[in-house]
Amino acid sequence: MPKRHLITCALPYANGPIHIGHIAGCFLPSDIHYRYLKMKGHDVLFVCGTDEHGVPITLKAKKEKKIPQQVVDENHSLISKSLDQFGIHFNQFSRTTNQLHHQTAQDFFSTLHKNKVFEEITSKQFYDEEAQQFLADRYIVGTCSNCSYEDAYGDQCEQCGRTSNPSELINPRSALTGNAPVLKETTNWYLPLDSIQDEFLNNWVNNQKNHWKSNVYGQCMSWLKDGLKPRAMTRDLDWGVRVPIQNADNKVMYVWFDAPIGYITATKEATGDQWTTWWKDADTEITHFLGKDNIVFHTIIFPAMLHAHGGFNLPTNVPANEFLNLEGNKISTSRNHAIWLHEYLEEFPGKTDELRYVINSILPETKDADFTWKDYQAKVNNELVAILGNFVNRVIVLTHKYFNGVVPEGSIDKLPDFSAKISDSLNRFNQRQGLEAYMEIARYGNKYLQDTAPWKLIKDDANQQKVADCILTCLHIVNDIGLYGQIFLPNTSHKIQKILNLKSYEDKITAGHIIEESELLFEKIEDEEIDQQIEKLTPKTPIETSVHQNNTQPIKPMIQYDDFVKLDIRVATIIAAEKVKKADRLLHITLDVGTETKEVVSGIAEYFAPEDIIGKQVTYLANLAPRKLKGIESNGMILMAEEEGGSLRFVSPDEQTKPGSVIS
Ligand code: 2FM
Ligand code: ZN
Repeated sequence: MPKRHLITCALPYANGPIHIGHIAGCFLPSDIHYRYLKMKGHDVLFVCGTDEHGVPITLKAKKEKKIPQQVVDENHSLISKSLDQFGIHFNQFSRTTNQLHHQTAQDFFSTLHKNKVFEEITSKQFYDEEAQQFLADRYIVGTCSNCSYEDAYGDQCEQCGRTSNPSELINPRSALTGNAPVLKETTNWYLPLDSIQDEFLNNWVNNQKNHWKSNVYGQCMSWLKDGLKPRAMTRDLDWGVRVPIQNADNKVMYVWFDAPIGYITATKEATGDQWTTWWKDADTEITHFLGKDNIVFHTIIFPAMLHAHGGFNLPTNVPANEFLNLEGNKISTSRNHAIWLHEYLEEFPGKTDELRYVINSILPETKDADFTWKDYQAKVNNELVAILGNFVNRVIVLTHKYFNGVVPEGSIDKLPDFSAKISDSLNRFNQRQGLEAYMEIARYGNKYLQDTAPWKLIKDDANQQKVADCILTCLHIVNDIGLYGQIFLPNTSHKIQKILNLKSYEDKITAGHIIEESELLFEKIEDEEIDQQIEKLTPKTPIETSVHQNNTQPIKPMIQYDDFVKLDIRVATIIAAEKVKKADRLLHITLDVGTETKEVVSGIAEYFAPEDIIGKQVTYLANLAPRKLKGIESNGMILMAEEEGGSLRFVSPDEQTKPGSVIS
């Protein structure tokens, strides 16, 4: 059992406010984990801050005719205020423009330089002669060779999402002056990831196989399999941390070199001289929370830096999440297809737990997930209001009605061990399941109350003790909802504590204790509020829709009608499903195909839990020759729609259809 836990949450770029994608990626998961460990009594430090360097910030400043410092100052305040209002309270929320951070990053860089870790490499880079400046990839724009979008960036096309390098752009031009850039030689300092891979990373990553999440381990392994290359840790820019060595004038550190050192800076700011216990003591575990685009930096580059430096602990876990989409499309800040946290807080005052709950319930833990306003409304109304809020309210009202608000004498009926299930899920970073286990408490309470029906018992004098036992038991269940709410629904937990009139959840509810009147925990979300939000999202033009729905994969070669009719595609219903042993990706599925059942093996286990797909109608290729997978004969293939980014959906008829129906 480690003595201490250092929890880090990826530093958001200070080039704009934060949105629900950031919350689902790392803010909420890290906060849940922090709250959970604190509740268990661990010594925990929770740090974050804003990432204030990097080219997007300088571009933003240029666009808004501000200096970069002004841009980051504004965004830092906005981000830290909204996180605080949302109930995410770091021990330290630092900034990478802080003096201490520059010092810390420079010391780190100097040590690597002294240890002769870097390779100095001279290469040709794009240069703007008029601006007299080397151009980072983001400073080069041109026509995308994939979709012909004219303002694609050198590193990524915002229209089709393709990542590339500037030399692939048609007619590249400088974002500073619009001129065509020239190639000019420059020297930079590279981290030799290739040799660090051989000497350290291969082994180290391999040892994480059994405790890292499969999406994290898988992505990390695929980088390693491709073979790492030296990566430049310095840039020819003037916004960033100065490189503290000779012959490096006009150079700053690569933003991904200094950003993770921000975790160390924040720790120093929070704990002063004690910082080393959090980074160097063997009794401390480090857990980094982040979104999937940050995996390589936290599982490969930062560990390589820490290893090359020496003396630091390496992360124990990196429980990264995948992406959250919005209403079926990628979140896009440039198209304003996003829900901004500061706007939500303004438009839904007091409803922080509602957003926490809904995002928690759909966290993209193993695959991309989708937030929709209708789902938000349904979950608030049908779960928070109808199940949790309703139960607590009924219990409090009944306590007042039957016992004038005084906790009765009695014995508590046996209750399930709610905490074991919650802990078991949260220890495995399965926070969706953790929330389900939490909601089980309220579901159980409702059922218990309904089954015991004290309103019937009260009519018979002989049953008065049973009524008291029931109310006492229910009050204990309410207490548990409040207690574990500290992890998932902090505001609600606080309200329940007030209603139960407890100084802290360490106090017990005992006979004679007086509780307060009930208070509404959640209110119904009306259709109009939801319609307004949907309206607010950028209307989707046909081009955008097609960009998101079309994979960038080219259409396959033409076939004739005769080829098509050879395919026998039919409707089926999934009637059973289970994981295939020793095959992480495979599900063994039984289909009702109308006249009989068929067994198929499908590579969708990372995307669907077996219990979630039973009863689902699907389409399947009925005349695919049988194949054996892991010893099971698969007869047919279930058809799936795959979105860009890899998320999978069943292709189902839009109404219940008789299994066996032919698709033509
Ligand atoms: O992707 C991002 O938003 C980065 N600013 C994350 C940095 S995480 C850490 F290394 F600082
Ligand atoms: Zn493109």
